[in-house]
Order: sequence, then C-alpha cells, then structure tokens
Amino acid sequence: MASASATLLKSSPIIDKSEWIKGQNLRQPSVCVVRCHPTSATLTVRASSYADELVKTAKTIASPGRGILAMDESNATCGKRLDSIGLENTEANRQAYRTLLVSAPGLGEYISGAILFEETLYQSTIEGKKMVDVLVEQKIVPGIKVDKGLVPLPGSNNESWCQGLDGLSSRTAAYYQQGARFAKWRTVVSIPNGPSALAVKEAAWGLARYAAISQDSGLVPIVEPEILLDGEHGIDRTFEVAQKVWAEVFFYLAENNVLFEGILLKPSMVTPGAECKDRATPQQVADYTLKLLHRRIPPAVPGIMFLSGGQSEVEATLNLNAMNQSTNPWHVSFSYARALQNTCLKTWGGRPENVKAAQDVLLLRAKANSLAQLGKYTGEGESEEAKKGMFVKGYVY
Ligand code: 13P
Repeated sequence: MASASATLLKSSPIIDKSEWIKGQNLRQPSVCVVRCHPTSATLTVRASSYADELVKTAKTIASPGRGILAMDESNATCGKRLDSIGLENTEANRQAYRTLLVSAPGLGEYISGAILFEETLYQSTIEGKKMVDVLVEQKIVPGIKVDKGLVPLPGSNNESWCQGLDGLSSRTAAYYQQGARFAKWRTVVSIPNGPSALAVKEAAWGLARYAAISQDSGLVPIVEPEILLDGEHGIDRTFEVAQKVWAEVFFYLAENNVLFEGILLKPSMVTPGAECKDRATPQQVADYTLKLLHRRIPPAVPGIMFLSGGQSEVEATLNLNAMNQSTNPWHVSFSYARALQNTCLKTWGGRPENVKAAQDVLLLRAKANSLAQLGKYTGEGESEEAKKGMFVKGYVY
C-alpha cells in the first residue's frame, strides 16, 4: 500500500523501490531522507502523495481555541436522541437537527472540524445547500465516521470488535471526493469485561489498519480506542488499562507505517469507573490523563481530541480546562458529541421556533470548551441542565 510510511535503514540511504513496494500498488510517494548518523543509520520517511495535506489538515483541526463537534451518530443512535425529545427517526427529522447544528452562526470560531455520519456527508440542509458546503463556509473541516460499528468478539470475555475494514479504501476515496478531509473509527475497550489481551490487540490492530488506509486516501484518521466509563473500578485501574491500550495502539500504528504527524487521537479521559464511589476532581483527572499521555503519546502527534463518554457537559469542560493549565506538547482539545449537543437538543425539542435558542446553547457550549482548550474556562454561570451526568450503563452508540 502506498501510505505515509517510515522505515529505519541500516547503511543504504534509500531502500530499493521494488523491495519497498513488493506486490503493492504505489502512488507517487514523496521521499524524505533524514540522516540520523553520518555513517551507521539513515532514516527514510516515505509519505504518500497526501503527506503534506494530511499534516496541514491535522494542524488546522488542532488550532488554538478550537475542537471537534462529533455529530456522527449512526441513524440508530440519532433515533435514540430524537426519541428522547419525542421525534420520529425520519430522514427529515435528522436533516432538520443537523441543519440546526452546522448552520449555527459563527460556529467555526470554536469548532475546527465536524464528524459526520455518511448520510449527512451526502445530505443537503433544509434550505437545500450541501451540509459540507455550509461547514466549509464556516471554516469547519468536514470529517466522516468510517467504522461499521461493534459486534461481539468470539473467543473473548463478552467483548466486542469493530467492523469496517473490508472495502474501506474505496469508501475513503469516495468520501474524499465528497469533501471529507478526516475520518473517525471508534472501537471500545471494556474494563469490567477484562479487557482481554485479545480484545486490546484486535482494537489496536483495527485502528492501525484503518489509519493507514485513511491516510492513503488523504483523510486524517482520528484514532479512538474508547475505554468505556462502565465499571466500579478506581482511577488507578483505568490508568493501568489505558497505558496498555495506548502502548499497543502505537506499536501497531508504527508497524503499519502511519505518519504520526497526520493523525489525531480521541482518547477517553482517565477517570474512575462511572459506578466507583470515589469520585475524582478535575485536577486529579488532569494529572492522571496527562501522565498517561506523556508516557505513551509521541510529541509528533498534533492533537489530542477527547471524547466526553457520558460525563456531564460541565464536567467534560472542567476536566479539559484543568489539562490546559500546563503547556502540553500536543494540542489538547475536545471532540464531544453528548457534551456539546445534550442541552442543545433538549432546547430545540423539534420545534422550528426553538432553532435559534438551541443554536445559542450549542454556541455557549462550544465557546466554553474553546476557553477550556485555552485553559481559561471558569465554570461560572452554567445551567443545572449542563451539570447533569449523561452516563448510561451499557450504553451502545
Ligand atoms: P461522546 O462525546 O458523546 O462520548 O461522543 C464522542 C464520540 O464521537 C464517540 O465516538
């Protein structure tokens, strides 16, 4: 595969092309040779024809004071959201809600990327404009969820694995044509169910294959091994599991020659299990999470875009703010779905007359998280609704 790639060579400056591409269909690669030592070793970095663009896209998304709006709920999950406000899960209702989100005036000041479900990538707003075009006008990079969801993992302890690699390269090529510039693949790891070595390995390998394929089509891959909040375990156990998971993820990313400068990560914050009696302060969450990131994530990675995972809107923002009290080697930001949309959805309630109020609420949350990305969020004046936790045991996206 012609992908963003790197290989460490002993003595010979550039590997023989036929050796490198054996049996592979190579797009014109750009080759950069970095001499690490005058005589003994040469590092050859081969990047796909998209390498420069990937780096640029990742940097744009990881720009100061901005983060990602995850609005890529599958039709089934979107149906649950609509059901919670008494709406039927029809294409028209999904379109109305997503029109509200993408066209919130000035959203691009706080939001650098929006992850879409396939339906939305090809959909128009209720005014008849392509959703993708509305995003680009707002200076928001369109992204696309490319995984095909979770299924039981045979041979494991009731764990799951993520589908979607078959035919992925054709889909990513088509999504690029349609205007997407980054991708997301969400797999999960359950602490109460193990995690088994098999489940962690499968999650890491799947993410790495997906990342290499996405980069080959010009899409920046968001690498998301979500460590679920479910469980009674304490924060130390989450830390231990997260270390293991990220070690494997980076092992396989490297093995698949993924260009680290052209990826984004979407980790869970390191917190106690949702049913653990000992709760953690934002300072503790920040300390544990940053310690994890420093131990496992190379500084070449441009952005860490956290998921909210069932935390309340305010909790997710406070935790992010605490992490940005220090200078970090990566852009530390957000890629929230529930923690950006919850109050917005309730405020809308499916009524056209509430669209403006709902957009204002979305902007309020986006601005709060923008401030948290800059380490300047105070938490003052937040509504009771925004403080309500959203954890649902055994939640399925
Ligand atoms: P939450 O922020 O609701 O956890 O969703 C993020 C997401 O995109 C899950 O993949």
